[in-house]
Amino acid sequence: MRLGVCYYPEHWPESMWEDDARRMKALGISQVRIAEFAWSRMEPSPGEYDWGWLDRAVDVLGNAGLQVVMCTPTATPPKWLIDRHPDILPVGADGRVRGFGSRRHYDFSSPSYYEASQRICTAVAERYGKHPAVAYWQTDNEFGCHQTVVSYSPAAVARFREWLRARYGTIDALNRAWGTVFWSMEYRSFDEIDAPIGTVTEAHPSHRLDYRRFASDEVARYNRMQVEVIRAHSPGRPVAHNFMQLFTEFDHYKVAADLDVATWDSYPLGALEELWFAPELKARWLRTGHPDFASFNHDVYRGMSKLPFWVMEQQPGPVNWAQWNPAPLPGMVRLWSWEAFAHGAGCVSYFRWRQAPFAQEQMHAGLNTPDNRLDLGGNEATQVAADIRRVLDAHADAAGDVRAAVALVFDYEAKWLFEVQPQGADFHYPRFAFEYYSALRSLGLDVDIVPAHAPLDGYKLVVVPPLPVVPDDFADRLARCGAHVVLGPRTGSKTRDLQIPSNLPPGSLAGLLGARVWRVESLRPNVDVPVVSSHVATGAAAQPFAGVGRHWRDLIDTGTDAERDVSGVEVRATFGDGHPAWVRRGRVNYLASLFDDALTAHVIAQIAGESGLDVTAQGESVRVSRRGGLTYVFNYGEATHTIDGVDAAAFVLGSRDVEPQGVAAYRTSA
Ligand code: GAL
Repeated sequence: MRLGVCYYPEHWPESMWEDDARRMKALGISQVRIAEFAWSRMEPSPGEYDWGWLDRAVDVLGNAGLQVVMCTPTATPPKWLIDRHPDILPVGADGRVRGFGSRRHYDFSSPSYYEASQRICTAVAERYGKHPAVAYWQTDNEFGCHQTVVSYSPAAVARFREWLRARYGTIDALNRAWGTVFWSMEYRSFDEIDAPIGTVTEAHPSHRLDYRRFASDEVARYNRMQVEVIRAHSPGRPVAHNFMQLFTEFDHYKVAADLDVATWDSYPLGALEELWFAPELKARWLRTGHPDFASFNHDVYRGMSKLPFWVMEQQPGPVNWAQWNPAPLPGMVRLWSWEAFAHGAGCVSYFRWRQAPFAQEQMHAGLNTPDNRLDLGGNEATQVAADIRRVLDAHADAAGDVRAAVALVFDYEAKWLFEVQPQGADFHYPRFAFEYYSALRSLGLDVDIVPAHAPLDGYKLVVVPPLPVVPDDFADRLARCGAHVVLGPRTGSKTRDLQIPSNLPPGSLAGLLGARVWRVESLRPNVDVPVVSSHVATGAAAQPFAGVGRHWRDLIDTGTDAERDVSGVEVRATFGDGHPAWVRRGRVNYLASLFDDALTAHVIAQIAGESGLDVTAQGESVRVSRRGGLTYVFNYGEATHTIDGVDAAAFVLGSRDVEPQGVAAYRTSA
């Protein structure tokens, strides 16, 4: 459990560096990330490197006892490089070239950029790869930020054709897989295929989905090149990348597979403001962030990181980039930091050491104000450093593992597929995955977030938000793992090629579930449909329940036919018009709609209870997490929360009374 900070020595007079480093160390910081945007200072003109300033900065930090996270500077190609190779610039869906003057102005498929990146990465890695102060690396910065994953340049289209050739082998196979006979879209060769933009109406959905898959693979290929360069020149130093919060434009599992540390950048208030949350929720959690948002990301990145994941950038105060930028309530910077550790983080690194008085982010807080005084976030970081010492003294295993009994399957292609073919305008996959996660967290459950191909053995409950394309062995793995399973609507609804399965949804899961989705409908936002429990669900023990379905309905046929074994299929809830809303067979449950939050939590609580899990409703604003033999309690609300039934002596942080924005941790086994 370490603290870090993001630092830009190139933004400040050299006369400040030593004092900065000394104060970082005194605050309790142990690692400092530098140089991710410093290309124009490393190589001011083509081939003319200036390492002097960076050598001195690394030495100053190292001499102060700080570890350096060195970055490759490829998120910001300098002007001279763009002028020499204008083909580096990406092309938007409107066909227009995106210009120089901010950042991330590059195309993952540009051969000149690939080559220039290889060259600057090699230069930095050769120079600092074995420096004793350089302990870690970061590739680039936030792949995909500012909608930069997909580009429609000639270079991208050329590589897309090669990608298609590798995937399909022959053009006939592609024509069949896509179904191009529809509207006379058949191709005679891969070279005839363009980018799926600029069409009169909707471009072919399989074409669009493949373009997204291709663009995602380009990110992985580009990152892999950088990792290989770094490993060649800096053996033994872990390589990280800083991913973004709930970002879904490329397959993060594939990129993380090449890294040692998956890290992410946590801006809970900016995210709340910019993402799908309803205006009431934006107001409700204005200064705290949504209680499940940072956790969701911690669990995503923990799952894909070989070493403990990190928060590479932690919001320290107001940011500048959301529509509105409120200040966090006092205590939140500390709460967010502890929440990361409670979910398994190895490091929380604040963005940034000092607020910059110039350029795009001059309104973004740092740990210090521009006049170099410790800001509120800096004070809270100081407190976290003291907390860490206290917790580790009291409980040496505090930095142990998180062990969850619940897995939630999270899939990137699902997002792209539903975007390509929403069928209902607000069918937003990340939101639905988050709602299932939030229901689990509101019941006090720890959750592992895993890819669809992950081993599932050992879990008691597996929750699958809408997963249109299921792996071939998914039904088998679900059956064999012994867990209770919750499948969201639209699961198994498409083949890999984006066609309707020949046996209708849920395709290869039909054998498991004994049900067939014969029709679907989407619902506009101001319409919902009633859902009520059926007698099967409300037998002797359970209470009747009711709620509503939103956005979507799968109409399910549970009747017999020659090809399906429907024995043991139970309808546990129905829609107002009698169609099944919740179907169960054995341990496998299928939900035919997206239920309101209370109903989702109710249904999941019932299934979790049947799986043998201990569920305890936490209310709206309290969350618990367990790691390394400690239970952490976080209070996002306005009132003091009292923890019942725990001996006062068991607390290693805080006490039974957890104040608003407060944190407590107690020994679970005490
Ligand atoms: C991140 C980015 C940083 C900085 C920060 C501001 O997305 O990686 O460079 O821009 O946001 O909040």
